[in-house]
Amino acid sequence: MAPMAVALILGWWLVAASRAQQVPRPSLSLHPNQGVSLGDTFTLRCHLPRLAAWVWLYQEGGLSYYKGKEKEENAAEFFFVSTEREHAGRYWCQYRVSESAEVSMKSDPVELVLTDRNFPPPHISLHPEERVRTGTNVTIRCWNKDYGATFLLHKDGRSAPIQHLVPDDVGAVSFTLFGVTPADSGTYRCSYHPKNYSFLSSPLGDSVTLEVTPTPAPPGRYLPPMCLSPAPPMGGSVITSLPHGGDAGDEHTQVPVPHRC
Ligand SMILES: *[C@@H]1O[C@H](CO)[C@@H](O)[C@H](O)[C@H]1NC(C)=O
Ligand SMILES: *[C@@H]1O[C@H](CO)[C@@H](O)[C@H](O)[C@H]1NC(C)=O
Repeated sequence: MAPMAVALILGWWLVAASRAQQVPRPSLSLHPNQGVSLGDTFTLRCHLPRLAAWVWLYQEGGLSYYKGKEKEENAAEFFFVSTEREHAGRYWCQYRVSESAEVSMKSDPVELVLTDRNFPPPHISLHPEERVRTGTNVTIRCWNKDYGATFLLHKDGRSAPIQHLVPDDVGAVSFTLFGVTPADSGTYRCSYHPKNYSFLSSPLGDSVTLEVTPTPAPPGRYLPPMCLSPAPPMGGSVITSLPHGGDAGDEHTQVPVPHRC
């Protein structure tokens, strides 16, 4: 009889274990997925891979919400109107299957970062200058002495911030773009997360515009000296059309600085 009992227990355990694995995790999404400001509305949508009776939404260290479902929808939506500071943070969702009491694992977390215009925007500066040649090291400095805890550098036209830095003693950070190329041209702005509020963000500050001009191909031995006119010189195309060979083809050759004629 003992082997029979063991087999029964083992069988029960296997069924229970496989059931737990059969409740697929939901996924959570935020709408709009960025740029939510204090006072705005937002929605957290829990996507359900199976028919659910109940859906829970949890906020880390905060409230939890739940929703009973009657309709056969594949998502449960949690609407928030007139967003407050307390809504900023990390969220998860979870559901209970309709036909049984089984509960899914929690979804991956989603972070709601709220822009709070009560914080002053950061300052920005750019070195050495806004118009530079390919290969220059460019430093963008952002600061806000009183509130900035970590700074983000944004480039217009890109959705994600490109860098993220902790400030020095005077509340400033330096983002260095090493050996810039024309692809680094564009408009840059900073924002910061205020001290003690990692899920709040300051508004974007003033912008700086970087323009990276391509390095002209190294001049051939028999070319007259280059001239730099106020308008971009047309000579560049003549120079680049020269056959590349020997020293003239070496991209790393030091190019003499053009002089004004
Ligand atoms: C850019 O910075 C790197 C690393 O500090 C340095 O090795 C390089 O010489 C710098 N380039 C220029 C053009 O200043
Ligand atoms: C941040 O929190 C610490 C400790 O809770 C507090 O001493 C400090 O004053 C707070 N800073 C700001 C800027 O609110």
